[in-house]
Amino acid sequence: MQIASKVGSPSEQRTPCIIAVVHHKKVLSEAAQILDKNTNGLISSLIKRGDLIDEIGETLLINNCPGVAASRLLLINGGSSKGATESEFRKIVAGAAKRLKSLGIKTAIDTMHRTHVTDRNGLSWKINTIAQEVSAAAYQFNEFKTSKSKNQGFNKLTFLVNDTSEGKKMNAACKETSGLIQGIDLAKNLANRPANICTPTHLAEVSISLAESNDNLTTQVLEELDMEKLKMGALLSVSKGSREPAKFIIIKYAAENPSQAKPIVLVGKGVTFDSGGISLKGGAGMDEMKYDMGGAAAVLGSMLAVSIIRPEIDVIGVIPATENLPDGNASKPGDIVTSMSGQTIEILNTDAEGRMILCDALAYAEQFDPEAIIDIATLTGACVVALGEHATGLLSNDDNLSNDLLTSGTRSGDRAWRLPLWPEYHKQIESPFADMANVGGRAAGTITAACFLSKFTKNMAWAHLDIAGTAWKSGIQKGATGRPVPMLVDYIQSKALDKNCDED
Ligand code: BES
Ligand code: MN
Ligand code: ZN
Repeated sequence: MQIASKVGSPSEQRTPCIIAVVHHKKVLSEAAQILDKNTNGLISSLIKRGDLIDEIGETLLINNCPGVAASRLLLINGGSSKGATESEFRKIVAGAAKRLKSLGIKTAIDTMHRTHVTDRNGLSWKINTIAQEVSAAAYQFNEFKTSKSKNQGFNKLTFLVNDTSEGKKMNAACKETSGLIQGIDLAKNLANRPANICTPTHLAEVSISLAESNDNLTTQVLEELDMEKLKMGALLSVSKGSREPAKFIIIKYAAENPSQAKPIVLVGKGVTFDSGGISLKGGAGMDEMKYDMGGAAAVLGSMLAVSIIRPEIDVIGVIPATENLPDGNASKPGDIVTSMSGQTIEILNTDAEGRMILCDALAYAEQFDPEAIIDIATLTGACVVALGEHATGLLSNDDNLSNDLLTSGTRSGDRAWRLPLWPEYHKQIESPFADMANVGGRAAGTITAACFLSKFTKNMAWAHLDIAGTAWKSGIQKGATGRPVPMLVDYIQSKALDKNCDED
């Protein structure tokens, strides 16, 4: 979806639809007042009659309104005229997005961004919130539909401003938001692609093409032979059960004038299909394990967003990509392998493969001396049980990093919730035969998985995002969400502006 801004009057826009807010107590927003004047009081008379007075986010559509150049006028109940809270604003925007989608039009002009939001400042936040919501409602994945629907979907949202000085501020906000939206859409497309198309090789090809088309990105792809040389025994123990070659992808964004010396490193789990391996999963819903590369998709999506937004901080993406299948050569429960870090692991369950590939990626990433390292993984079913689809699980060895991520999550509407990593939990992954076991029993599955990872990140400020519940939706609405790209991009942007970081 394209995002643009434009200077002009609400009544004069030739567009399929113009969106305007009406407040409680029959108070019209400034844009609605102008429209009302041009329609000889049509809006105020409808409001007086009792339309659009109940719930925030409720909509009223008026077609072919005399005096208005737009074909449709979409009015939204915007709550109190004193301003909306953050969550009220989200409701307003969601209501509009839903109605827009049902209209089947391609473009619209917005004035919702003029609403005062009481607990958030800044235009960018409003533009981000509106564009994310409208773009999410408009998203369609029809790469594999032979008869593409005639309506190719909503593809452009224009924010209307009063004058050129407002327009300038708006252009900067639009550019940032457009980067974010493109990143989210890339993450969704990658995750939605089936596992026979979206293989480790495909992820590597996407990374290569991103680097080709963006001058501030470079990429490098390691082959299994390279992984052997690096002694990535944990990662290779997963990939040896599959005939698709594993790929280890490194993608770097170089800022023009980095505000600090050290990079942020993002590590994304790229299991392009997780059958469980020899510890085979049940058949029900197994198709959804194509989404087990949601972490990798979020890393590539964030790298695209960052390359467009150009924040002043270096960012490195690292993606271990493999399938997890039960071949004759697959790892077996009880097998012991040596990870790149030198620590040995007893594989008690081949379905706990995510941590096996991540531990080698985390050990590899230590050479970048990261300011912060964040891994993103559809790691545990237990996280879905604990937090459902609303919050990403966050576990970290660093309170500042953790708080920054929580803040970014709240601000971007892509929330996380922190779980503890207390020493007591580490006992669950002790092994009688190796340095650790790869599973720790049923209790606290999300935490013990993170305990495992923490053994490979001792020298870094590290956070783990378990996106098992948030990366995709099941059921009739099945599809990738693009999460946690909004949280990550917000974090990277705020870190780039943060001049207080050590520059040692
Ligand atoms: N990819 C799965 C986690 C998962 C399961 C995410 C369902 C979303 C929905 C992961 O590789 C896995 O299989 N984890 C096991 C760990 C267990 C063996 C300790 C799980 O959660 O059952
Ligand atoms: Mn698994
Ligand atoms: Zn998995």
